Amino acid sequence: MSRIAYVNGRYLPQREAAVNIEDRGYQFGDGVYEVVQVSAGRLIDEGLHLARLERSLGEIAIPMPLSRRALGQVFLELMRRNRVRDGLIYMQVTRGVARREHAFPNPRPKPAVVMTIRHLAEFPHDVDAWATTAITRPDERWQRCDIKSVNLLPNVLAKEAAHRAGATEAILVDAAGMVTEGASSSVWVVDRKGTLATRSLDHAILPGCTRAALIGLMAEAGITWREQSVAGAELETAREIFITSASSFVKPVVRLDGRPVGDGEVGPLTRALFSLFSHHVLGAARNAPA
Ligand code: PDD
Repeated sequence: MSRIAYVNGRYLPQREAAVNIEDRGYQFGDGVYEVVQVSAGRLIDEGLHLARLERSLGEIAIPMPLSRRALGQVFLELMRRNRVRDGLIYMQVTRGVARREHAFPNPRPKPAVVMTIRHLAEFPHDVDAWATTAITRPDERWQRCDIKSVNLLPNVLAKEAAHRAGATEAILVDAAGMVTEGASSSVWVVDRKGTLATRSLDHAILPGCTRAALIGLMAEAGITWREQSVAGAELETAREIFITSASSFVKPVVRLDGRPVGDGEVGPLTRALFSLFSHHVLGAARNAPA
């Protein structure tokens, strides 16, 4: 069965789907994106993703191409047409097509929307098998990483460095020596005293939807955490490190820069939070748009 993509209002076989070469997403990286997880036929944290899309677009003055409700309908239609029960939806929204000039085109073009979906293995049941490895890298990105921009070159280079080192994620450390986030994930650290921390939201990191969902779940479960920056140097003595994202849920990092994190096994807090998040993904009714 050929995959079906959504391109500017049409559902097309992905092989035939194309965008205009003067699309500003292609010419300038002038656009934003979202990634939404589909698990057991349900959209996970859909409302959070659509709210973040609207915010990212607002920050760069691109109008919402469709209402949140209509975008949610396209998600469902893509799932149906591609028969995906477990997968990832990718959505890119760009400023649209115009003759190449850096400043915003006048008149404003219609934003361009592309959505694709792909199959993914079912939600992982074994947290030990789900564990991964990471390296640290300098954060070479711009000053507005809170916008989910399609400009991902520094992230791509950091991931490539991780892959070359035999790891899967790169944990980025800013010029002040503080951890920002992963190349494609939020980073959480249990320090040597047992305190769980993740950086508070600022322009240096993406406001992760999985991060937000996990914070809500921890608040309900009475688990404490701190929103506080962690020094890159503290990673060396961390008891546990894990990352969160739409595609990795809660993912333990058991080796960093080639050395074990803590005792090199999945730690107890990470294990508990993985289980909490599994219930959220597998147990929750379809998350209504916010
Ligand atoms: N990445 N930080 C960065 C830089 C990211 O790219 C992502 C997500 C996150 C976590 O956000 P969320 O929990 O909303 O997925 C944090 C997606 C999955 C990607 O680019 O594929």
